[in-house]
Amino acid sequence: MSHKRRILIVDDEAVMTGFLGDLLSRDFQVDSAPSAEEAAALIGSQDYDLVFTDMQMENRESGLDVLSYCRRSRPKLPVVLMTAYGTVENAVEAMKLGAREILTKPFGPGELFSLIERVLEERMETSLPQKNERNRNDEPQKPKQSHKHKIVGDSPSMHRIYGVVENVAETNATVLLTGESGTGKELVASLIHNLSRRSEGPFIKINCAAITDTLLESTLFGHEKGAFTGAIKRTPGKFELANGGTLLLDEISEMKPELQSKLLRVLQEREFERVGGISTIPTDVRIVATSNRNLKEEVRSGNFREDLYFRLNVVPLHLPPLREREGDINLLLDYYLDRYAEEHGLVRPELEPGLLESLQRMPWPGNVRQFQNAVERAMVLSRNRRIGMRDFLFDYDLGDRQEKKDLFDEDLTIREMEKKMIHAALSRFQNNRTQAARHLGISVRTLRNKLNQYRGEREAVGA
Ligand SMILES: Nc1ncnc2c1ncn2[C@@H]1O[C@H](COP(=O)(O)OP(=O)(O)OP(=O)(O)O)[C@@H](O)[C@H]1O
Ligand SMILES: [Mg+2]
Repeated sequence: MSHKRRILIVDDEAVMTGFLGDLLSRDFQVDSAPSAEEAAALIGSQDYDLVFTDMQMENRESGLDVLSYCRRSRPKLPVVLMTAYGTVENAVEAMKLGAREILTKPFGPGELFSLIERVLEERMETSLPQKNERNRNDEPQKPKQSHKHKIVGDSPSMHRIYGVVENVAETNATVLLTGESGTGKELVASLIHNLSRRSEGPFIKINCAAITDTLLESTLFGHEKGAFTGAIKRTPGKFELANGGTLLLDEISEMKPELQSKLLRVLQEREFERVGGISTIPTDVRIVATSNRNLKEEVRSGNFREDLYFRLNVVPLHLPPLREREGDINLLLDYYLDRYAEEHGLVRPELEPGLLESLQRMPWPGNVRQFQNAVERAMVLSRNRRIGMRDFLFDYDLGDRQEKKDLFDEDLTIREMEKKMIHAALSRFQNNRTQAARHLGISVRTLRNKLNQYRGEREAVGA
């Protein structure tokens, strides 16, 4: 029994849809639409796994319309934009609007298939474990070493982390990962899972900051039919779904006290009840928690239960910020240059002299995530030219050149530079914190904390 996944191709050129249809129809169920309007109708009524759309169509329709329609009506559906123009504005705009990939025409079957594989693989990893199971049975091959899980870093602090991870992966010990936004906490959590005996089991992730308290409770523990308005059927929670595997509790510091107590009980007794239920359900999960706040301080200020802290903190692992990882910028740059050259079908660009040194001096408040985004953007923007610092500063509205130069003034401390970057990002996005934070690769909360910190310093100076 094979289950073909569905792909929609949107292009006004029949030659193109025909060509792609021929290539893909052996492995996928392929539909095509000649306009954004017809695409919307299909997307609204069918369940697609992936959409390819041409960037520029006749009748002034644009692939960006298809993209924004998908973002609104099917937020999880990956969209790949195909463009022959490759203009900077469009590519950057498309990325910002949430395009998964940009495919530059002309492209060959090899590039096309590897892109599809990558995008669908990412989609699977974020979907339910049953789907993974089924797929595994269909094709019993070893999972390929995907980019997604590759950890780069040769600094002493990273080596220390690899050592700890290797030692604890085999055990069932609870791990608490701390570190600034974008330092790789989730990546390390998935590494711990993959190296453990549970690797065949599910790896389930839940972000405690992303949803409301009541919803978080029923998401964690599940609920019985009729437990609350809208509970129309019994639903398992993450603790049930993660049975035999690993449960990542992301941003645990944001959990409210009442739920903290319930979590503590599961950690102590390894059992729980569904919301509105009476039967006790045993669970065998390995917990990995993350926090980008200092949990010890949260305990001190009374926001976090001390007993829960000790339960979680069995193996503490702190991921250092990128600015403290000597030599790693070099390796990461090298890695992302290769990776994005391959992914975007570009040649690996040459670097202008001094670029590496400048990048090493930058503060990277969003750490590896920000660096990764910046390298990708610089490569997409430069399109096979040599890349230099201007490709990294493209987005910073720093006024005149003097100011750009000032950003790299060697006398500035890293903190001062960071402050400048944050203010530059805010001014570029008209003080829209959500956009500025996304651009910097940090969470809005981190941004808010940093701004509060700056305000505090100003007031302290003024006092
Ligand atoms: N050492 C590394 N090598 C390669 N890629 C890395 C490394 N560290 C982080 N990344 C990449 O950086 C991005 C951010 O990493 P991750 O999501 O693990 O960060 P995080 O610490 O969980 O951040 P947040 O606190 O914002 O959730 C991911 O794309 C990840 O693959
Ligand atoms: Mg994370």
